[in-house]
Amino acid sequence: MTVSDAVDDDPFGLRSLDVASLRRRDGAKWGARPVDYAAWVADMDFEVAPPIAAALHGVIDRHEFGYPNWGGPYALSPAGQQFVTRMSDRFGWEPDVDEVVDLIDVLQGVRAAVYHRSAPGDGVVLHMPAYFPFIDTIETMGRRRVDVTWTDGGFDYDDLDERLTRDGARIWILCHPHNPLGHVFDRAELERIAEIAMRHDLLVIADEVHADLCMPGVEHVPFAALGTEVERRTVTVTSASKAFNLAGLRWAVMHVGDAGLRDALAGLPGHYLGAPNRMGVAAAVAAWTECDDWLRDVVAVVDENRLALASLLEQHLPGVDYRPPSATYLAWLDCRELGFDDEPHEVFRARGVELSPGPQFGPTGAGHVRVNLATSPSILADMVAAMAG
Ligand SMILES: Cc1ncc(COP(=O)(O)O)c(C=O)c1O
Repeated sequence: MTVSDAVDDDPFGLRSLDVASLRRRDGAKWGARPVDYAAWVADMDFEVAPPIAAALHGVIDRHEFGYPNWGGPYALSPAGQQFVTRMSDRFGWEPDVDEVVDLIDVLQGVRAAVYHRSAPGDGVVLHMPAYFPFIDTIETMGRRRVDVTWTDGGFDYDDLDERLTRDGARIWILCHPHNPLGHVFDRAELERIAEIAMRHDLLVIADEVHADLCMPGVEHVPFAALGTEVERRTVTVTSASKAFNLAGLRWAVMHVGDAGLRDALAGLPGHYLGAPNRMGVAAAVAAWTECDDWLRDVVAVVDENRLALASLLEQHLPGVDYRPPSATYLAWLDCRELGFDDEPHEVFRARGVELSPGPQFGPTGAGHVRVNLATSPSILADMVAAMAG
């Protein structure tokens, strides 16, 4: 990708790519299907931040492709070390570096925790609708899904509490901020979750990969930051991949506050979960140390887009119910009033727009689609017009 492929068509100076350049790339988002607009998988239509590109060029220019020297064969990567500083600087949470583990991706950490801390038949609590790999993980591993469903702008924790008393569970997968709802759990809601988790002796897996993408004025509180007792039953997974658009570089990180999982991992051969890719590590270090101005620009564009989407829908697709996300660059649209049945993405696909199908996110996703807002305002406007047919 050369700079000439990029266009500055947004007011914030961020380098967004035009449709022609996006189509020439070999990424899944724009390449999987011959569509006019692609807004499904969670990749951005922006060039990466210049310090990240420079860090990657540095690795290439120095031909540093051998085994890295990070202080021992199984030592924590520099990105894993940086995670500790990042959490402390940005969110006021100070994880113990000895409890941090490098991962290849975020889902690997979620799956390792589910596998090692529960058994087939055990219950796993999940906010619904849910990011579909969580659903798949629970089903594939033969665990029992315990749904807590979004209704009328909230979750019914009293009902969940009753069901847990009756049927039990072992784990709670907390997607915080939430994909696809864009909901940010505030301190009071997190404390309610923690109280239920403690009373029912649940391990909480907090996937906080969207934490850096809170909209202006919205605060992210790491679940493990609620206190030592909570931290001791929490596994936090995250990476720089969503906020800095690095998903293909394969590096993520896990803080294992739970002693049971730490013991289980300690009993595995070194690098059982894979050795980190040094390109991914270099990119994550640059992201977390040099790119906050760039991130601010991204949040500003997504903020503009999430608000613009409300008026675009009103203009082109009245009847769609939409609540702008408080975090993430993902918008969850309730299209049931449009009369497109359970699979509105099929209608939008026929009109040249590829979106994420709501039913992928569980039964309550019927009649919904998820739209990716990490694009230029002009592409968003053209895309919504196309969705209207
Ligand atoms: C909540 C959440 N977790 C995990 C992932 C995937 O991350 P990874 O590719 O690092 O497994 C995504 C991707 O969109 C996500 O939204």
